[in-house]
Amino acid sequence: MNVGIIGYGSMGKMLLDKFAASGRFDANSLYIANRTTGKIADAPDRYTICRSNSELASKADVVFVCVRPVDMKSVLSEIKGSLKENALLVSLNGNIPFELLGSIISTKTAKVVPSVTAEIDRSQTLVCYNELVGSDDKAMLEELLGCIGTVIELPEKELGMGSELVSCMPGFIASIFDVICTSAQKHTAIPVRQIVKMVLNTLNAASELMLEKEMSFGDVVTRVATKGGITEEGTKVVYEMFPETADKLFENTLEKRRLTAVNAQKSFAE
Ligand SMILES: NC(=O)c1ccc[n+]([C@@H]2O[C@H](COP(=O)([O-])OP(=O)(O)OC[C@H]3O[C@@H](n4cnc5c(N)ncnc54)[C@H](OP(=O)(O)O)[C@@H]3O)[C@@H](O)[C@H]2O)c1
Repeated sequence: MNVGIIGYGSMGKMLLDKFAASGRFDANSLYIANRTTGKIADAPDRYTICRSNSELASKADVVFVCVRPVDMKSVLSEIKGSLKENALLVSLNGNIPFELLGSIISTKTAKVVPSVTAEIDRSQTLVCYNELVGSDDKAMLEELLGCIGTVIELPEKELGMGSELVSCMPGFIASIFDVICTSAQKHTAIPVRQIVKMVLNTLNAASELMLEKEMSFGDVVTRVATKGGITEEGTKVVYEMFPETADKLFENTLEKRRLTAVNAQKSFAE
């Protein structure tokens, strides 16, 4: 099986590196194309650089399109005539509906949303499929994505919120704990690097504890925040004041997602 990746940006480079490192591919079965060809790191023993997207599409059985929404239409138009008849098209953009993608190329299509945790092979990668994709292709793609972690299949309409929960979540978690660590610094002489390490290791261990013991968030709060105790003073503040922030966070991100889809729709109509 030949795999092709169009777009050597953040996502394309990550997939290329992971697929190349998996040992499943040699230079004759892994293809890459980018608008600015000079950007692609030259590693001829690991993959083949294609001069055009259509050249890549003529060779690959699975074509990952890792470009921004604004560039999606032109890439699809370019590869339309050369895509192999049985090829699986994979969009790394979760926001462009299958209906729009299908208006340019009506073929077996998947949408894939990885997380930054793919860097340590722990992405919970979201996938959804159009109605043309059969179980063999699903199994093949899920095995391929096993190189970067686990796979969660969702219906198309849940891909937005799913992306908030696994792809955006590292950013949400990082920003929340950035605020917490900044606040902690105001009350201690412990160096900031040590504060961050203490919080991250606690976060890590608390997550593992919850997953291993099947504990809910409420279970942990009850275990730690004894009635009338010190922790309870803190958890009370979180439950009183944080819901409004969390609601606003999802309202804003989901609205931005909706606008991105509208813009993609406009760019496909041009
Ligand atoms: N970054 C994330 O964490 C993340 C997570 C999940 C999904 N996604 C989605 O993945 C997609 C790619 O995101 P990204 O962050 O990897 O973007 P990026 O870093 O901007 O990379 C996009 C790449 O696409 C190339 N490109 C643009 N038009 C092209 C064309 N016509 N032919 C060939 N290559 C072309 C660009 O080439 P140049 O070098 O010429 O600019 C660039 O290397 C987006 O749709 C994004 O929404 C991103």
